[in-house]
Amino acid sequence: MMRAYLVAVALFALALSLTSASDPSPLQDFCVALEEKDYSKSAVFVNGKFCKDPEQVKAEDFFFEGLNIPGNTENMQGSNVTAVNVEKIAGLNTLGISLARIDFAPYGQNPPHTHPRGTEILVVVEGCLHVGFVTSNLENRLFTKVLNKGDVFVFPVGLIHFQLNVGKTNAIAIAALSSQNAGVITIADAVFGADPPINPDVLTKAFQLDKNVVEHLQKLFGY
Ligand SMILES: *[C@@H]1O[C@H](CO)[C@@H](O)[C@H](O)[C@H]1NC(C)=O
Repeated sequence: MMRAYLVAVALFALALSLTSASDPSPLQDFCVALEEKDYSKSAVFVNGKFCKDPEQVKAEDFFFEGLNIPGNTENMQGSNVTAVNVEKIAGLNTLGISLARIDFAPYGQNPPHTHPRGTEILVVVEGCLHVGFVTSNLENRLFTKVLNKGDVFVFPVGLIHFQLNVGKTNAIAIAALSSQNAGVITIADAVFGADPPINPDVLTKAFQLDKNVVEHLQKLFGY
């Protein structure tokens, strides 16, 4: 009887842990992150950040300015992401939400990437974007759409996705993410730009490419 009860409790706990795949819920009104300099010497690390004394919390801890300023898109991809996460707004700590502005030059793109800890919902504020995401193995199904000003699209947590400016003008999108720190893994940078580099034999076989092509890509994306 006792054993059956323990098994039931264990299964319930497992089910609970499976349903909370995103940031854990806050256990207080807020937990404004302490600046790293205030505790980094203690050599203690927590999942998230330490909370500032609530008495010391100010409106500025929940404030960020400058999202009206475009990021510089003069780079290889022709895009720029300005992230407004817990590193920019300490008050976001434990709240499971953050924001980004994405600027695109004409034909610029935010290349295939994933957010390991957050679902993304994106609205086009200016311009026209071809967007998409791909489901996990074995289907690897592509969901894609052309978005115009005012259109909204969702990229589920962890899935590889991209946005390409298909218009002749600059484009701007605002994205919200279901994590204070959703993380970004840009596929090309992680695979071809790993530091130290991944053995080219691995990538040659994985991508079925000529080894010269792999070494060229490693030079392009590496340091
Ligand atoms: C994005 O824009 C900011 C502000 O102009 C700039 O400092 C940063 O280097 C740019 N990032 C990339 C990847 O071009």
